[in-house]
Amino acid sequence: MPLSVALFFLACLAGLTSAQTTNFVNQDSKLEGLAEPQWFKENIPFLEVPDTQIEEVYYYRFSSHKRHLRYSLPGAGYTITEFVHKVGYSQKFDTINDAAGHHIYESRWLRNPRYAQDYINFWSREGAGGEQQYSEWIANAAYANFLVTGNKPFILSQQEGFVNNFNGWNRSYEPTLNLYFISPLLDAMEYSASSLPTPDPFGGGVGYRPSFNSEMYGNAIAISKIARLNNDTRTAEEFEARAETIRRAILDYLWDNERTFFYHMYRDENPNNELLESRENIGFFPWRFGVPDPQDPKYELAWEHLFDSQGFNSRYGPTTCEQRSPWFDGNQTSQCCWWNGNSWPYSTGFILNSLSAQIKNYRPTNLVNIDTFMQILHTYAETQYKDDKPYVAECHSPHRKIWVCDSFNHSEHYAHSTYIDNVLGDLLGIEPQPDNTFVIDPLIPSSWSYFIVENLLYHGHNMTILYDKDGSKYNTGAGMKIYLNGELAASQPELGRMSLNIPDPVMDESNSRKKIENYASNPNSYGYPMVDASYTSVFDSSIWHAVDGRIMYDYFPSNRWHNFESSNEVDWFSIDFGPGRQKTIDQVKIYVYSDVVTEQGNVDCPKNVSVEILSSSSGEWEQARNQASTPPSCLPNDVLTIHFDPVKTQKVRLVFARNLEDNWFVGMTEVEVWAPWPQVDEEGIYEAEDGYITNANIRAADSASGGSYVAQIDANDASVEFTGVWVKQAGEYEVKVYYSNGIQEEARMSIRINNIHTVEATFPPTVNGWGNFDQNTFVSLRLSLLRGNNVLIFKHGDNFAELDKIMVSSF
Ligand SMILES: *[C@@H]1O[C@H](CO)[C@@H](O)[C@H](O)[C@H]1NC(C)=O
Ligand SMILES: *[C@@H]1O[C@H](CO)[C@@H](O)[C@H](O)[C@H]1NC(C)=O
Ligand SMILES: *[C@@H]1O[C@H](CO)[C@@H](O)[C@H](O)[C@H]1NC(C)=O
Ligand SMILES: *[C@@H]1O[C@H](CO)[C@@H](O)[C@H](O)[C@H]1NC(C)=O
Ligand SMILES: *[C@@H]1O[C@H](CO)[C@@H](O)[C@H](O)[C@H]1NC(C)=O
Ligand SMILES: *[C@@H]1O[C@H](CO)[C@@H](O)[C@H](O)[C@H]1NC(C)=O
Repeated sequence: MPLSVALFFLACLAGLTSAQTTNFVNQDSKLEGLAEPQWFKENIPFLEVPDTQIEEVYYYRFSSHKRHLRYSLPGAGYTITEFVHKVGYSQKFDTINDAAGHHIYESRWLRNPRYAQDYINFWSREGAGGEQQYSEWIANAAYANFLVTGNKPFILSQQEGFVNNFNGWNRSYEPTLNLYFISPLLDAMEYSASSLPTPDPFGGGVGYRPSFNSEMYGNAIAISKIARLNNDTRTAEEFEARAETIRRAILDYLWDNERTFFYHMYRDENPNNELLESRENIGFFPWRFGVPDPQDPKYELAWEHLFDSQGFNSRYGPTTCEQRSPWFDGNQTSQCCWWNGNSWPYSTGFILNSLSAQIKNYRPTNLVNIDTFMQILHTYAETQYKDDKPYVAECHSPHRKIWVCDSFNHSEHYAHSTYIDNVLGDLLGIEPQPDNTFVIDPLIPSSWSYFIVENLLYHGHNMTILYDKDGSKYNTGAGMKIYLNGELAASQPELGRMSLNIPDPVMDESNSRKKIENYASNPNSYGYPMVDASYTSVFDSSIWHAVDGRIMYDYFPSNRWHNFESSNEVDWFSIDFGPGRQKTIDQVKIYVYSDVVTEQGNVDCPKNVSVEILSSSSGEWEQARNQASTPPSCLPNDVLTIHFDPVKTQKVRLVFARNLEDNWFVGMTEVEVWAPWPQVDEEGIYEAEDGYITNANIRAADSASGGSYVAQIDANDASVEFTGVWVKQAGEYEVKVYYSNGIQEEARMSIRINNIHTVEATFPPTVNGWGNFDQNTFVSLRLSLLRGNNVLIFKHGDNFAELDKIMVSSF
C-alpha cells in the first residue's frame, strides 16, 4: 500500500472508530498561518460552518485569546490580560477586572481547564476582595465555566470568595432603591451618552445602570446556585432574595414603558428618578442575565430599537448609543474611549447573548429570530477584520470599515469581548448543564446545510456534534449527530434541539496539591528569577520579555528577546532562580521567534541550541545531560522543548548558535522552566522565596529550607505572598511560620488570607540571629483556609522578621 493510502486508511479508522474522539475536521487546514499549531490542537474545539467569515474569525479569536493567557507565578498560575502590554491603571499581574467576565466566558471553551480556573481563583482570592475597580460579573462567569467543566469541587470552593466580592460592592449600593450605582467610566464606558451631558464628560454621570445592575443580579444568582450545590441553604436563600430585589428594582426604575427601553438613571440631582434621554446599548444587557419577566411581553418592544436605522442599526453596528441621540457621533476618530456611537465588541457580545436568550428563554418574535440573530452575528464577524485579515481592537466605526480605537503596540488583539462563546453558546446553542446531560439547541438558519464542532471538552468528555443536511459533507448519513468520546451517542434526522445523558464528569488534575509550574516566570521584570544574556539587541528586544509570561510571535505588538546585530556566533541567555534557590528541573521550553518566515526581519531558528546548568560543585557551566528536543529540530514561531536528565540547580542557560551563513539572529518570545511544585516532598511546605515578593529580598542560607529565605521585609509596603497554599477541604489549619528575628524585640506582621480575613502575628526574638533557621523556631497560627489554592500575604508591621517557609497541617 502506498504511504498516502495507508495514512488515509488510518485516518478513516481514527475518524470513525477511535474510542476517544472523532476526526472529521482537517485540523491543519484550519490552523494554517497560526503560530504554535499544536497548542490549538490541544486546546480548541474545531469548527466548520458555511459562513466563511464566522469560521475564520472563530480561529482568529482563539489566537487573539491565546496572546492574553499570561502565566504569572508558581502557585498562582495563569491570568488573562486585556491589553497585550501593561497599562498604567492595571492591577496585580497587569490584570483589569472589567472584562474578566468576558475572559472567563471565552476561556470556558478551552480544553485545558487550568486557564479559566487559575484566573477565577485569582479574582476570588487574590485580586479583588472588596476593592473591585470596574463593574464585573465574575461569579456569573465562573458558574458558567463550571457548567462546561463539570468540576463541582472547584466551583464549590469559590463560594466564600464570591460572597466576599459581592459584599465589597455594598459601598455602591443604594438601599432605598435596591440598586447599585457606578460611573459610566467604571462601567467601562468613558465618553458616552450618559457622561457627555455632565460637567465631567470623561468620568462623570454616576448612576444606576441596566448593565451593572444586571451583572450584579447575575452574580447573586450564581452565588445562590453554588450555595445550593454546597447544601448551604441559608446563603442560597439570602442570595436568591438579594437577586430578586435587584431584578425588581431594575424593572421598576430603569425600564420606561413609554420609551420602551432600559436606561441609565443619574444618582445625583435627580429627585424624580428620571431616566436618561438617550438609549444606550447597555439597555440590551438585562435579557442575557434573565432580568425581564418572561410573562410580560412589553419588554420585547425594546428590540425594535436594535433594528431601527435611527436606533442602533448600522453597517458595522450595533452602535453604542442610538443614532437619534444628540450625543451620538458616528465619525469619531479619537484613538480612545468614545462610546457614544462606535461599535463596541464588549457590548456586541452581550447583545448576541441577549438575542439568543430572547429567542430561547423568552420567545422568538417577528424581529428577534434565527435570521436576525444570524444577521447581527455575521455583522460582528465582518466587523472583525483589518486589511482583509481577522482582527479586533477596542472600537470600530459604525459606518466605515475601520477600527477607530486602535493604537499601535497597545490595542491589537484586544481581549475585551466574547466571540467564541457567541458562536458555541449562542449560534450552535450548546447549553451547558449542571447535571450529567448535554444539551444543544442551535440557532442555525435553515439555509445552512452543515455544521460541526469537534473535540469539544464538556464535563471532561470529548464531544463532537455535527449536522449534515443530506449526508454529503461528512459521509456519515443525513441529519444531526452527537458523538461522545468517539462513539455515536445520539442522532436525529432534523436540525433541532437534542439532549443526551452522559457519564459522570472526568475531573482534571490541574486544581490539586502537586502540579508543575513555571519557575522562570517573572511578571514584575525585576528581582528574581533574574535573567541575563551575552547580547541583547537594542531594537525592540528585552531580556525581561522572555520571562514575562506573555507569548506573542507578532512583529508588532512586540514582546521578545533577540540578539539582532550581535557579532557573536554563539550567544547565551541565562535564568537565575535566586540566591541559594535551587530547583530540580528536567526541561526548558523555548518559544522560538522568527521574523524571517514572515519576511519582516532577520531573526530565525538558531542553528543549534543547548541547555547548560551551573554546577554547584565546580561553579562551571556544564551541558545538561541527555538532551533531546521535541520536535527534533526547531520550527519557527513554535515551541521547542528540550528535555534532559533531572538536575538540581540555581542557574540554567540556553546557548544559541546563530545561522551565520544567512546572517540571521536568534530570538524568543518566552522561555519557560516547568518543574514540580512544591518541590519539597513533605506535604504542606511552601517556601517564602517561591512567593510573590514585594520590596524585600531573597537571600541564601544553608540553614534555610530550599536553600534560601526572604529578608529585608522592612519597608511599609513590603510583603511576601504565599500563593497556591493547597488544602483539600475548607477549615481551620495549623500554619507554622519558620522565621528569624535578630533583634531583642518582637516583630509583627499582618497576614491577609484570601483577601477575606486578616490575622496579626507576633514573632519573638530568635536565639540564633538573622538568617538562621531550624526546625524548632516557628510561630504557630490557626488560620481558616479554603479548599484548593489559598493566598496568604504577609505584610510588614512592626520591627523585622525574616521568613523561610510555612508548613500547613490539620489539627
Ligand atoms: C479526548 O480526545 C483526546 C485527543 O484529542 C484524547 O487524548 C483524550 O484521551 C480523549 N478523552 C477522552 C475522555 O476520551
Ligand atoms: C453588605 O450588605 C449585606 C446585605 O445588606 C450584608 O449582609 C453584609 O454584611 C454587608 N457586607 C459588608 C462587607 O459590608
Ligand atoms: C448535599 O447534599 C446531598 C444530599 O444529601 C449530597 O448528596 C451532597 O453530596 C451534598 N453536597 C455537598 C457539597 O456536601
Ligand atoms: C459623518 O460622516 C458622514 C459621511 O461619512 C457625513 O455624511 C456626516 O455629515 C458626518 N457627520 C458629522 C456629524 O460630521
Ligand atoms: C511595545 O511595548 C512594549 C511594552 O511596553 C515595549 O517594551 C516595546 O518596546 C514596544 N515596542 C514598540 C515598537 O514600541
Ligand atoms: C553549535 O554550533 C556552534 C557554531 O557552529 C558549534 O561551535 C557548536 O559545536 C554547535 N553545538 C552543538 C551542540 O552542536
